[in-house]
Amino acid sequence: MSEQPLYPVPQHYADKSLLNEADYFELYNRSITDNEGFWREQGQRLDWIKPYTQVKDVSFARDDLHIRWYADGSLNVAANCLDRHLAEHADSTAILWVGDEPGVSREISYRELHADVCRFANGLKSLGVQKGDVVTIYMPMIPEAAVAMLACARIGAVHSVVFAGFSPEALAGRMDDGKSRLLITANAGVRGGRSVVLKENVDKAVELCRETSVDKVVVVNYTSDKVAWHPERDCDYGELVAQQSDDCPAEEMNAEDPLFILYTSGSTGKPKGVLHTSGGYLTYASLTHEYVFDYRRGERYWCAADIGWITGHSYILYGPLANGATTVMYEGVPNYPDVTRVAQIIDEHQIEILYIAPTAIRALMAEGDKPVAGADLSSLRLLGTVGEPINPEAWKWYHRTFGRGRCPIVDTWWQTETGAAMLTPLPGATALKPGSATRPFFGVQPALVDNDGNIIEGAAEGNLVLLDSWPGQMRTVFGDHQRFIDTYFSTFDGMYFTGDGARRDADGYYWITGRVDDVLNVSGHRMGTAELESALVAHEAVAEAAVVGYPHDIKGQGIYVYVTLNSGLEPSEEMRQQLRSWLRSEIGPIATPDVIQWAPGLPKTRSGKIMRRILRKIAADECDQLGDISTLADPSVVRQLIDNHAELA
Ligand code: PRX
Repeated sequence: MSEQPLYPVPQHYADKSLLNEADYFELYNRSITDNEGFWREQGQRLDWIKPYTQVKDVSFARDDLHIRWYADGSLNVAANCLDRHLAEHADSTAILWVGDEPGVSREISYRELHADVCRFANGLKSLGVQKGDVVTIYMPMIPEAAVAMLACARIGAVHSVVFAGFSPEALAGRMDDGKSRLLITANAGVRGGRSVVLKENVDKAVELCRETSVDKVVVVNYTSDKVAWHPERDCDYGELVAQQSDDCPAEEMNAEDPLFILYTSGSTGKPKGVLHTSGGYLTYASLTHEYVFDYRRGERYWCAADIGWITGHSYILYGPLANGATTVMYEGVPNYPDVTRVAQIIDEHQIEILYIAPTAIRALMAEGDKPVAGADLSSLRLLGTVGEPINPEAWKWYHRTFGRGRCPIVDTWWQTETGAAMLTPLPGATALKPGSATRPFFGVQPALVDNDGNIIEGAAEGNLVLLDSWPGQMRTVFGDHQRFIDTYFSTFDGMYFTGDGARRDADGYYWITGRVDDVLNVSGHRMGTAELESALVAHEAVAEAAVVGYPHDIKGQGIYVYVTLNSGLEPSEEMRQQLRSWLRSEIGPIATPDVIQWAPGLPKTRSGKIMRRILRKIAADECDQLGDISTLADPSVVRQLIDNHAELA
C-alpha cells in the first residue's frame, strides 16, 4: 500500500498552519529528547489551581507499574473547559447542536453552557452526589449529555458514559462494575426519525443490577413519549435544575484524580473500565485537538461521533471546549432523511472541519456522488477519520467529494486507552498517503516488535507498541489494576501493547493492519469475541459458539458466528432469528451478527483450544488457505464447516 500516491501539503496550508514540516520534526525531536521539558511546557495550556512542579512519574515495568503526570498540581477540568473562556469569549458558541430533523439546531454560548453546567452540578449535589462518586450517563446526543458530563467534572464526580445503543443487560453490567448509584438519562432519544427507547431500558437495567443499588435516576423529558415513573427514585431534570443557582464553585481536583471511566472490550472477559484522570488527559486532549485539526478559535468543527465513545469524550467535548472551540453535536445519523444530510449540515452551518468514521464514509460512498450532489462545501478546509483503517479507495472518494481535492485528511490512529490521537498527520506538516495514519504525535514513541518483543527497525511489519508514556494515557482498569498490567504491559516487557499490528514503510509512515488479538472492529465499534461468545452460550439452545470477524464492505469487519446447538436441537431459520435477537438484547444492536453458521463441531487442538485462524479463513471465503490442520483433534470438522459455509453463500 505504500505505493499510494503522495498528497503533498497544499500550499495554503504550508503557509498558514500552526506548524510546517520542518517545525514538526524539530518539535517532535525535542518532545522525545527532552520529554519532560516538553510536557512541562504543554501543561501550561491549562489553568491550574495549584501549579505542578512534578511533571512525569512513570514506570512501565510490570512489577512497578505506575503512570502519573503533573501529580502535585490541582485543577478543575470543567473550569478549564468553561470558566476560563468567559472573560473574553462568553458569547461565542460552545456547542452548535444540530437536531435529527433538518432545519432544527441550537447554538449554546460559553456563558449559557457554564450556567447550565453550574445549575445541574448544584442539582447533582442536592441529590447527594459527592466527589469521587461514579455517575452513569445513558443519553442521546442532546446538549444535556454534555452538561451532565461537565457537571460531574465540576463537582469531582467520575462519569461513566454508556453508549445509548447498549441493552439493559450491558448497562447494568457497567453500573454494577462502577458501583454507580446515580444514573442520568432521557425518557427517549431520536435518531434517523425514530424514537430510541432509553428510560424503559434504564428501568430494566436498574432491576438487573446486582452489585449496586441505584438510588436516583435523573430523566430529561426530551420527547413526548410517556414513560413509567417511580416517584421515590426518578427525578425530572427540568424540575431539578429550575431550583438551582447558576453559581457552583469548581471542585479542586488533583491532576491524578479520576475524570471518567469508559468501558471498552478486550480479547478476554467482560468489558474493562478504562480510567482516565484529570490534568494529563485534558492537556493531551486539548493539545492534540489544536494541532491535529490546526484549530483556530471561531472555526466550526464537527466531530460526528457519539459521546458514548472515547472520540466523543475527547473530540466533541473535552479537547474542543478546553480550546474555546465551537463544537458541533449532531443528534442524528449521516443518511437521514437522505444521504445528502452531512453535506447539507456543512453548508447550512458553514462548517470548516469534519471528523468522521471510515464506516460512514464507506456507507456514503456506496451511493456514488449523490451525498455531495448540489452541495457547495466551500467552507470545509480539513477532513479527518478515526476508529478503523480507511481503505485507500474510501480515502480518495472522501478527498475528492467532500474535500473537493483541496482538503487534507487527517487519519488519526488511537484508542480508548490512549485518550487522544497518537499517530496522525498534521495538516500543515505531513504529506499524506491514503490509508496511512502517518507519523507519531509529539511525545509519542511508537515501535514495532516481533512476537518475542524484539524491536524491529526500518521498513517492517510487527506488533505496535508504545515505548513511553504520554499524559493522556489511561491509568488503570477501574477496580482491577492487575488486569491493567496483564492486558497492556505483560505481552512485551516494559512496553505498552496496543493490540494492533502495523507496518512501517521506508518513509517511516505507519499503516495499521488491524487487531492482532480477538477483538473485532465493526463499524468502528470495538467488540470482544469473548463477550459475544459468552452471551451466546448463555442461550439455552447453544452448546458452543465461536465468533470471528470477516471483511465487510461497509462495516470494515462483519460479525461471523459459528454455533453448535445442544444435542437434539435442529438448526432452523427461526433459531437463527432467535440468536440474533438474543445478542441484540444481551449486548445491543451493534452486536447483531451478520452471519450465523451452524457448526456440528468446532476445530480444536488436542488440548481443546479453538483454532480461530481456521474459522477466520472460512468466514473470509479463503478456504483454500487454511494452512496446517494436522494438529487438530478432529480434522474432519473442517470439511463439514467448509461445506456449511458454501451452503450459506
Ligand atoms: O484497531 C485500532 C482501531 O480502533 C482501535 C481502538 O478502538 P477504540 O478504543 O474503540 O477507539 C476508537 C476511537 C479512537 C484501535 O486499536 N483504530 C482506531 N483508529 C484507527 C484504527 N485503525 C486504523 N486506523 C485508525 N485511524
